[in-house]
Amino acid sequence: MSTPVVLRVIDFISRTAGIVLTTEKAYFIEARLSPVLREENATSIDELMQRADRGDRRIAQRMVDALTTNETFFFRDKAPFDHFRNIIMPELLARRPAGKPIRIWCAACSSGQEPFSLVMILDEMRAQLGGRNVEIHASDISETILAKAKSGIFNQFEVQRGLPTKMLLQYFTKEGDNWKISPDVVRRVNFFKFNLLDDPRAMGTFDIVFCRNVLIYFDRPTRAKIFDKIADRLAPDGFMLLGGAESTFGVTDRFVSHPKERMLHLPVAKKADTLARSAIA
Ligand SMILES: C[S@@+](CC[C@H](N)C(=O)[O-])C[C@H]1O[C@@H](n2cnc3c(N)ncnc32)[C@H](O)[C@@H]1O
Repeated sequence: MSTPVVLRVIDFISRTAGIVLTTEKAYFIEARLSPVLREENATSIDELMQRADRGDRRIAQRMVDALTTNETFFFRDKAPFDHFRNIIMPELLARRPAGKPIRIWCAACSSGQEPFSLVMILDEMRAQLGGRNVEIHASDISETILAKAKSGIFNQFEVQRGLPTKMLLQYFTKEGDNWKISPDVVRRVNFFKFNLLDDPRAMGTFDIVFCRNVLIYFDRPTRAKIFDKIADRLAPDGFMLLGGAESTFGVTDRFVSHPKERMLHLPVAKKADTLARSAIA
């Protein structure tokens, strides 16, 4: 693949998804786009690019799907899920009036392991929830990965990563070589396509936003814009959770890191007392 074609793909994925690739990634780009090339009967990546640039949205989407990295697993990093169960949910349940739903957004959900992990935790917390409605909204830019999430089907390797055996037996049934998560779990998640570069205002306000292991692919100005959008969508005493390698530090002042846990972020509250109440003693 010639350097001008590599540069064209780099420009395309940056404009379309905010993802930063460099020319050193030429091999990665070629490996990811080769299957698309074959399936679309295109003769070169340049031809694919031309079709996308001429307005072929299907090809553009296929290229985005191929160039995104969907690595994920159940209860990834454990700590954020422990915080969700032991700190965030109890605090929100105590603060929110009984009839008010608690709204969660998994902002780059990949194949669904993150929102499905939350459903399983909430199931265990049923007594504490006391009938409270907890909405889980989960979005991703990739249509292919969203289709996989909605199918609820995982292979042996995927269910062996992070998922306790007890939960495998409780929520999954074996289907051939794969495992299918209970349709009741899938039904509890509202999956939809959303590009983090777009305007999320129509989605309303959330109490918790999981935006994990996606900002690492963006440059600092893009991360700052996305933090702004999340801060605008988050209740003043809400929580944002990032991936282990991600931070708001030096990017935005719309959030404060939790005093005890840097992965747990609180938005800068308008009232100081709200902020004080958000902190873990
Ligand atoms: C590495 S996965 C992280 C999944 C999950 N949050 C986790 O931490 O395990 C990153 C996901 O971000 C999605 N993504 C990349 N760029 C995006 C964008 N501009 N808007 C929305 N999702 C995006 C990818 O499709 C991919 O599924």
